[in-house]
Amino acid sequence: MKRRVTKAVFPVAGLGTRFLPATKSIPKEIMTLVDRPLIQYAIDEARAAGIKEFIFVTSRGKGALEDYFDHAPELETSLRKKGKKDLLNTLKNTNMDSGAIAYIRQHKALGLGHAVWCARRLIANEPFAVILPDDVIAAEKPCLQQMVEAYEETGGCMVAAMEVPAEKAPSYGVLDVKEDMGSMVSVQGMVEKPSMEEAPSNLAVIGRYILTPQVLQNLNKIKQGAGGEIQLTDAIAQEIAAERDVYGYRFRGQRFDCGSKAGYLQATVAFGLSRPELRDEFDAYLAEMSSLRKAAE
Ligand code: G1P
Repeated sequence: MKRRVTKAVFPVAGLGTRFLPATKSIPKEIMTLVDRPLIQYAIDEARAAGIKEFIFVTSRGKGALEDYFDHAPELETSLRKKGKKDLLNTLKNTNMDSGAIAYIRQHKALGLGHAVWCARRLIANEPFAVILPDDVIAAEKPCLQQMVEAYEETGGCMVAAMEVPAEKAPSYGVLDVKEDMGSMVSVQGMVEKPSMEEAPSNLAVIGRYILTPQVLQNLNKIKQGAGGEIQLTDAIAQEIAAERDVYGYRFRGQRFDCGSKAGYLQATVAFGLSRPELRDEFDAYLAEMSSLRKAAE
């Protein structure tokens, strides 16, 4: 019998240097798309997929994240007094059941694989999800939910996958495809940040994973990989070497790389346009901008 996935790890220890000076005093995961911080998108996606336990791997300076998921008694009392039910409801999504959220510190920035390994005792012997909050995915059915449904059929390890232009492959983990079954591929190898020549395909890993606890054991022994870091990709690749199943899942949805400024701005536009209360005004503004640009050319 395949077990249900109820735990998710959120690696949020990164310094976010690409967004300095903003990230000097706020965690990058608190940066907002329209009015919700990046981390809220990740949590909502996890909840939709049936996740019940949320494990944050944090570092120094991430206190704002812990506060964000706490109750805010003064704010709530004041909103209640003013009868602001809608806003109180909005705040509800930011609260967690007692005991549902755990924070673990990654004491040294040794890489994504190491960050996930830091959560090993809380995960114990269960399959678990990993969500990288920088990768924001707009989708009718949330990406992790799509994957959990597929995983119920396959078991094994599964990573979200997306075709990228060949010159972008060196920025990702890249899949070596054994068999292409459409939305799903079986994988015979994975390379983290390959050169363009070494990339086995242009199917890149995107920041959603469903992993077996065996991957954590692999991480016990893994050596530094690409960029001198302990790579999650390498620990998953060891599962392939041990002849256990690893799949890539081509999700339906649009992914934004909110770890980059351009991706973050694109996401802001896309999520802004998706909000009924903003759409008309924002759309009109964008149309005006684009005609002004055309006229200037
Ligand atoms: C991480 C993973 C990489 C994956 C990418 C997706 O890299 O190591 O395999 O393709 O996320 O966003 P990072 O972007 O943290 O360098």
